[in-house]
Order: sequence, then C-alpha cells, then structure tokens
Amino acid sequence: MWLVFPAQKADIEEIHSIEEECFPTPWSKDSFHAELSHSYSHLWIAKSSKTDSIVGFICFWVLWDEMHILNVAVRKKFQGKGIGSLLLKKAIQYAIKKGLKWIGLEVRETNIKAIRLYEKFGFQKQGRRPRYYYDTGEDAILMTLKL
Ligand SMILES: CC(C)(COP(=O)(O)OP(=O)(O)OC[C@H]1O[C@@H](n2cnc3c(N)ncnc32)[C@H](O)[C@@H]1OP(=O)(O)O)[C@@H](O)C(=O)NCCC(=O)NCCS
Repeated sequence: MWLVFPAQKADIEEIHSIEEECFPTPWSKDSFHAELSHSYSHLWIAKSSKTDSIVGFICFWVLWDEMHILNVAVRKKFQGKGIGSLLLKKAIQYAIKKGLKWIGLEVRETNIKAIRLYEKFGFQKQGRRPRYYYDTGEDAILMTLKL
C-alpha cells in the first residue's frame, strides 16, 4: 500500500536520488530545498507503508486559480504500479478542494508514458512550446485539465 505525505527536509536526499534516476538533467538538491521554502509550492512524497521508503514524488505550485505541476517521478523499479496515478489523483483532489479552475503542465513530446498518465486523468494537449528543454532542444507539449 502506498501513502502520500507532504515532504520534509529530511526527505530531500531520497527524493533527489529518484530525480537522478528518472531524468537526464535532474533538479539539484537545492532546487528541492527551495520548493519547500515557497508558500505556493507543494512537494509531496509517496511512501510504502511496509518499508517507509520513498517511491515517488510530485511537486506543484498553486498560483491564483491555477495549479501548475512542475515535476512528478516514480522510482524505476516501482513504475507501472499505480503510484504516478495516486500522486496525480491526490494533487487533482487538492486542486478541486481549493476551488482552483485548472491545472497545467509541460511534458516532453517524446515522454509517452507521462502523456498517457495525464490523458488518463483528462488532461488535454493545448499547445506546444518550441525547444522548451534546453538539454535536448525538445519541444514541450502544454497540457491542461479544466476543473
Ligand atoms: C510518468 C511516471 C511518473 C508514471 O508513473 P507510474 O507510477 O509508472 O504510473 P502508473 O503506474 O500510475 O501508470 C499511469 C498510466 O501511465 C501510463 N503508462 C504507464 N506505463 C506505461 C508504459 N510503459 N507505456 C505507456 N503508458 C504507460 C498508462 O496510461 C498508465 O495507466 P494504466 O495503468 O491505467 O494504463 C513514471 O513513468 C516516471 O517516473 N517517469 C520518469 C519521470 C517522468 O517522465 N516524469 C514526468 C515528467 S512530465
């Protein structure tokens, strides 16, 4: 069973190791610490109830009537078990509870797994940000969910 909690400072090491495992150009530890210090930013972790180890995380901002999802990742060996879905579902439930109007995010156009995950929850492709990712020069697909 997986449980979702707000992250604490002590979780950053483990979150960062998931980040490094999942992304070619990972966020730094300082970036995660910075997210914990912003009132508009939310960093949540998914943990196993059995081992207490962190298996995934989601980071989002709440600005005005919008939620913006900045990052979501699941440790490779735990992918495909519904943890990404759980994190996204919790974030969407939070947005609804707060009366937000929509949720937005950018995703690499080649990241089919992530695009499928977002589509499963009703996100739609709204546009494209050309050469958004400086490491590969890839375009970002802008996806939104109207609440
Ligand atoms: C994207 C990611 C967060 C999904 O997490 P996950 O725990 O594996 O996702 P889930 O098990 O909840 O699966 C959710 C949906 O993703 C899609 N999906 C999962 N694995 C897939 C695969 N191998 N191929 C295509 N779609 C896939 C499916 O639509 C799935 O829903 P379904 O099981 O009902 O069909 C995870 O793959 C990951 O960490 N990727 C690396 C980091 C990343 O790219 N993050 C997104 C940045 S925008």
